[in-house]
Amino acid sequence: MYEEKLIVPRPTIVDRQFTKPLLCGPGPCDIWPSVAEALSKPVLSPLCDELFDVMDDIRAGLQYLFQTKSKLVLAISGSGHSGMETVISNIVGPNETILICCRGIWDDRALEMSKRYGIKTKVHRILFNNTFSLTLIEGIVKILRPKALFITHGDSSTGSVQKLEGLGKLCHKYGALLLVDTVVSLASEPFFMDEWGVDGVYSSTQKGLSGPAGISPIAFSERAQEVIKKRNFKPPFYFDIELLAAQWNCFGNTRQYHHTLSPPLLWALRSCLKEVINETLPKVWARHAETTAHFHKRIEQLSLELLIPKPEDRLVTVTTVVLPKGYDYMEFVKYMRNKHNILIFPGLGPTVGKALRIGIMGVNSTIQVADAIADAMADTLIALKKSSL
Ligand code: GLV
Repeated sequence: MYEEKLIVPRPTIVDRQFTKPLLCGPGPCDIWPSVAEALSKPVLSPLCDELFDVMDDIRAGLQYLFQTKSKLVLAISGSGHSGMETVISNIVGPNETILICCRGIWDDRALEMSKRYGIKTKVHRILFNNTFSLTLIEGIVKILRPKALFITHGDSSTGSVQKLEGLGKLCHKYGALLLVDTVVSLASEPFFMDEWGVDGVYSSTQKGLSGPAGISPIAFSERAQEVIKKRNFKPPFYFDIELLAAQWNCFGNTRQYHHTLSPPLLWALRSCLKEVINETLPKVWARHAETTAHFHKRIEQLSLELLIPKPEDRLVTVTTVVLPKGYDYMEFVKYMRNKHNILIFPGLGPTVGKALRIGIMGVNSTIQVADAIADAMADTLIALKKSSL
């Protein structure tokens, strides 16, 4: 009846066939079979008791993952960036100061977000293939006295991991809170929120947790909760952690509606957490360390150089590899996909044109996967050799 009113004709949506590649970029990686199964559970209202139980399981699992006894632990509806928005906008207000330690693209994103909130930003920038010295940070924090310091634990744009032990204590000594991005390090690199004095932390599901993107673990320390209670500004409604805490029943007896959570993503995150809990964190960390050590050996046997010079700075989830002169990074990535159906990524942000980014994490963190990538890279090096002449 309304057919003649439609100004846009029906588009054609064709079925698309493809063979799933092995996902070996910096994320997303492949998902656990249990997570695929969880994603197909019946969609109930997130206001049903069944989903409230799932939310409680998620909070308990995240306390284990972050290693925190804090009650303010939940998952934000959105990708890792939503965690970044939440952590920054709940702690630092307009005209307050944040110090951002910049070495990769995510720190620059934190800088851009902070500016949009009217926060005063200060930057401590180092070379992309390096990590921060706590002594240097202390000198800067002592002078600037920021409300918070932002730092990325594992950086997928550079393939480096930042040492965090001692940083929380250092920040607290000068009245600053410590905010940390663990998007590509959680459930892969050791992380101890309470012991390290981390005050605000977020992650995502499509990396070490081997789940789908779209729901982001987050936690705030008790120290951060005190700051939140006293703040004289309001964060964006969608990211307001006080409203979210009431929805997630963080402090008991509150199931206040805030926004509609995605039941499939809740089930999926719960399954990711079950996988880690069943294996245990120490075993998960050891598996990632062993697999990546093996992969690095294979890379060195191919006479390829790792972008991060110091072994202790190399991230277990994402390896950055420098190709010999004459090879083209995009061509290499395309050949790996077309010939071997393995998806790896070129550089991003400061590493564009400088490295390949290869992710081995979560369910993919096995010697077989590491060998499959290294074998395909060996073939690709030979196949594309003429372009290097
Ligand atoms: C995304 O997280 C990326 O590192 O490309």
